[in-house]
Amino acid sequence: MNNERFDGYLSLINKRLDTLIPECDFGEDIVHRAMKYSLSIGGKRIRPVLVLEFCRICGGSVAEAVDLACALEMVHTYSLIHDDLPCMDDDDLRRGMPSCHVKFGEEYALLAGDGLLTRAFGVIANSSLSRRNPTAALNAISALSYLAGCNGMIGGQVVDLINEDKAAPIEILEVLDRLKTGALIKCAALLGCLCADADEKMTMACIGYAEKIGHAFQVVDDILDVTGDEKELGKPIGSDAENNKSTYVSLLGLEKSKELAASLTEEALSSIDYFGEEGEFLKDLAIKLTKRTR
Ligand code: IPE
Ligand code: IPE
Ligand code: MG
Ligand code: MG
Ligand code: MG
Repeated sequence: MNNERFDGYLSLINKRLDTLIPECDFGEDIVHRAMKYSLSIGGKRIRPVLVLEFCRICGGSVAEAVDLACALEMVHTYSLIHDDLPCMDDDDLRRGMPSCHVKFGEEYALLAGDGLLTRAFGVIANSSLSRRNPTAALNAISALSYLAGCNGMIGGQVVDLINEDKAAPIEILEVLDRLKTGALIKCAALLGCLCADADEKMTMACIGYAEKIGHAFQVVDDILDVTGDEKELGKPIGSDAENNKSTYVSLLGLEKSKELAASLTEEALSSIDYFGEEGEFLKDLAIKLTKRTR
């Protein structure tokens, strides 16, 4: 993959994220610190990188997409903070560091998640896209709200919780993963496309790719929960089994899960054929994600 481009995107995203949590103006900054902590301790930044690349591939300005990319990463980070809470997956390690609730306490971790979620919408509302093309910014807010919401990522978390202690059929697992993980990855495609004023064909190609890599991403996440190395992965191994989760590995076994991730990735690659040679970065990224160890 074009590592230089990936690193360039990372640097734009991380620099901007550093500035997006406001200073506390009332003296008690524990939630501000918790928000900054969870945002800055690491994370692969796959979703914001995708926003920038989708925008570029559709002919838009990467600089203009940075705030949308950061807003999506803020929503993703909030989802992880809440996912780790004792009432959810009860995981003490995230991004190689103590989970937000371990470091700041459950009540402040809850509020830090709320703070990141609400701030994300303000970031898009105040972005340069919103000044140049307010309709596109409104559409971005609407897409993020829908895909992160109760019929999107949150819905997936509901299906995930309801199916603890059960062997969910594969159809349920597909819904679960399309929502809990797929929705925010699909959102990356929509945000990038909106920022670039992409036409319908481009948008459909990006969404097609995002849906497939989103699905593969969760299959690999389930595999790494079994085969990963805790230090490298930065989160606990065996959390799914401990919580009696239905996962691809529990349902299909390791080998079939690996095959599924590979075939979904193949499908993602063909969606991106639409962009010809310009699609190389996204193709390489999809392949790299199936081989990831963190
Ligand atoms: C973890 O997402 C949660 C899932 C949706 C599978 P990532 O693997 O992208 O986590 P970070 O952002 O790199 O920490
Ligand atoms: C969580 O899925 C996805 C969201 C946070 C929406 P997991 O529970 O499998 O994510 P990890 O493995 O803890 O990162
Ligand atoms: Mg979970
Ligand atoms: Mg979890
Ligand atoms: Mg997992």
